[in-house]
Amino acid sequence: MTQATEHPNWSNRWTFILAATGSAVGLGNIWKFPYITGEYGGGAFVLVYLACIALIGIPVMMAEITMGRRGQENPVDASLDLAKEAGQPPFWGIVGYAGVLAGLMILMFYSVVAGWVLEYVLQSASGNYMVANAEQIEANFGALTADFNRQLLWHSLFLIITLTVVALGVTKGIGKAVEILMPLLFVMLGILLVYSFINGDPAQAIAFMFQPDFSKLSGEAVLVAMGHAFFTLSLGMGAIMVYGSYMPRGASIAKTGLIVAGLDTLVALVAGLAVFPIVFANGLEPSAGPGLMFVTLPNAFAAMPGGAIFGTLFFALVAIAALSSAISLIEPGVAWLERRGIKRVVAVLGLGMLCWIGGIASIHNGDVFNFLDNFTAKYMLPLGGLLIAVFVGWVMSRNHVQAETQMNDSDMAKWFFTLRYIAPVGVLLVFLHSLGLFGG
Ligand code: TRP
Repeated sequence: MTQATEHPNWSNRWTFILAATGSAVGLGNIWKFPYITGEYGGGAFVLVYLACIALIGIPVMMAEITMGRRGQENPVDASLDLAKEAGQPPFWGIVGYAGVLAGLMILMFYSVVAGWVLEYVLQSASGNYMVANAEQIEANFGALTADFNRQLLWHSLFLIITLTVVALGVTKGIGKAVEILMPLLFVMLGILLVYSFINGDPAQAIAFMFQPDFSKLSGEAVLVAMGHAFFTLSLGMGAIMVYGSYMPRGASIAKTGLIVAGLDTLVALVAGLAVFPIVFANGLEPSAGPGLMFVTLPNAFAAMPGGAIFGTLFFALVAIAALSSAISLIEPGVAWLERRGIKRVVAVLGLGMLCWIGGIASIHNGDVFNFLDNFTAKYMLPLGGLLIAVFVGWVMSRNHVQAETQMNDSDMAKWFFTLRYIAPVGVLLVFLHSLGLFGG
């Protein structure tokens, strides 16, 4: 294990929890979750999403951490090494290769949305939308997405910041920032929740989010809910694996996985509960699409005392949450190239260039944006997760897995049951269901 000593490590379990939570909590929670919940009809969609988190997401998260920590490597080499250890062919390297690709594809549109957030930091600070009514606020977002140059500027800026942090090295840079800013984001979300419960329409919001109406649940909705469970937990492409490889031995994989998944789910639900009361009180449409956050929250900020300051701070914190997620999208690829003897800075520049170009394509053409979002979340991440579940559940030696997780026999049996049967079968059923092969 000579390379284990060279491999960077985080000082303690909390650093892993912070970094993994930093990866998980991002635009997926605050931007995407509310708008897809709105598009796919609310309650039943939320229920399927929660079931996917519990039955598929959490077991797969533990599997990814296990692979990373045992492999002590980037996702490509971890899956290659662990396959070899289990006497299996290098086919399993596909978990790592496909993961690197998925991360880059996600960052190509993620950085564009993060750019919108930066624009709204500026707009809040300048008080731009504070004097506007609901229609003008809606038109304001439309104007941004029609403005190529402005989006290009923000996308480029966000990507430069991300690449700079990654070039400095993940184990050094982000721990500190996440430690302070994530709790602050939670507090701000909490304040926003209270505000929108007092000034919005919480009863209708709660009914919309938690009263399942299964007649609204299409096969497509189930697929999107499952895909989002992977997306929001940063699973299926090796991000959590790479972070797991930096996690010190002795920290409990089960506990940390549960904490990260719990915090992530909490943030998503609070974000939804903050957004929808404002949607209903202002007569907006829950199905407004990707602009939902950018039209509802400015309505609240425009109406609240001190809204300019609050709004500026809020969007700035969302941008930072996006940054700590974006880092984990590109780190697997960078760690892999670095291991192959390429300088970190060069790897960052090369992969960053790809993401920059992909982002330009997504700004230029909404179909590219949608393709990258849909294809990764609906197919690549669940397939990656399926392979990871099968790999840890069926391919790796159970003794090695138990030694790595240090679980007692009864916890191990429960986890292995979900990992071996429920998670893979669940993913397959959702795929088949979405094809309309049964019940859909
Ligand atoms: N989970 C992040 C979010 O919700 C996005 C993200 C970061 C991600 N790293 C990932 C998604 C890896 C999938 C895989 O915003």
